[in-house]
Amino acid sequence: MKIGLLTGGGDCPGLNAVIRSVVRKGIQEYGFEFVGFRDGWLGALQNAVVPLDIASVRGILPRGGTILGSSRTNPFKHEDGPRRVRETLDAHGVDAIIVIGGEDTLSAAAGMGRRGIDLVGVPKTIDNDVSGTDYTFGFDTAVGIATEAIDRLHTTAESHMRTLVVEVMGRHSGWIALHAGIAGGANVILVPERPFDIEQVCSWVQSRFKTNYAPIVVVAEGAVPEDGEMVLKDRTVDEFGHARLSGVGEWLAREISRRTGTDARTTVLGHVQRGGTPSPFDRWLATRFGLHAVDAVKDGDFGAMVALSGTRITRIPLEEVAGRTKSVDLSLYDEFAVFFG
Ligand code: F6P
Repeated sequence: MKIGLLTGGGDCPGLNAVIRSVVRKGIQEYGFEFVGFRDGWLGALQNAVVPLDIASVRGILPRGGTILGSSRTNPFKHEDGPRRVRETLDAHGVDAIIVIGGEDTLSAAAGMGRRGIDLVGVPKTIDNDVSGTDYTFGFDTAVGIATEAIDRLHTTAESHMRTLVVEVMGRHSGWIALHAGIAGGANVILVPERPFDIEQVCSWVQSRFKTNYAPIVVVAEGAVPEDGEMVLKDRTVDEFGHARLSGVGEWLAREISRRTGTDARTTVLGHVQRGGTPSPFDRWLATRFGLHAVDAVKDGDFGAMVALSGTRITRIPLEEVAGRTKSVDLSLYDEFAVFFG
């Protein structure tokens, strides 16, 4: 059996660990052959195919990024996309694909499955917002990076007795903001799931100053003020209809300064959260996902996505994942209210 692998969407630490795990088990245990599609669905559309064997996955476990490249290509937005993907598979004798991606890439996979392409999905993203799995790999690494940044910002904020706003990634969901904010002892955490009241934010900031500490405000890039709109970097959208975000952190610092008469600055963590070596947990989870994905192919369980449920790896239908995102449960968010202000 010959299997194609692709990594699509925004990259995240742990993608190479999945590729290594799939190839190692597939070749050693099942005698499969592998190829990789370059840059996600784009390579499947454009017949950009590279061989993958055990030698080519040696040494990649701790490396960030993806040796296959990635893109936000939606095959359904390209003329004759599904037919062209099928032609690429046929040209290389590929029987099935393992698709490693976030919600967009996996939704496209569900669509391809409906058109008769045999595939298995693996969930990834630093945002942790793929539904059906307790965690995605990449998230733990991103939270570690954001927490370290918050730890560092505390000391400089306190030296100057100013507010430091930390903008983290999270387009639809505030998982990174919530986990890193709690781990880093933030005084305000703002997530897309709960529109915020700027007056309330300012009163938390002021109460923190009163105790002679400097406030740290962690905000997810997709967070919105109650009476405002999401702040966009620009209005261009990708092939899945997403605009580029970022700017809410700057907006918050300006408003906090203006309304409280105190100094506030912003740090935007951006792609630092997606780069570099995966944490041990992400290597562990990515490796397990890879092993189970290749088993699903061996079992002919096509149209499935591997998922983490507690400590077990399960399989769920891609159709249940497509078009959905996993939001922060607001009752979980409210558990931490005692730390705000
Ligand atoms: O999809 C994951 C993500 O990290 C989002 O949180 C963020 O909005 C987006 O990627 C940024 O993507 P890009 O690298 O395409 O600007």
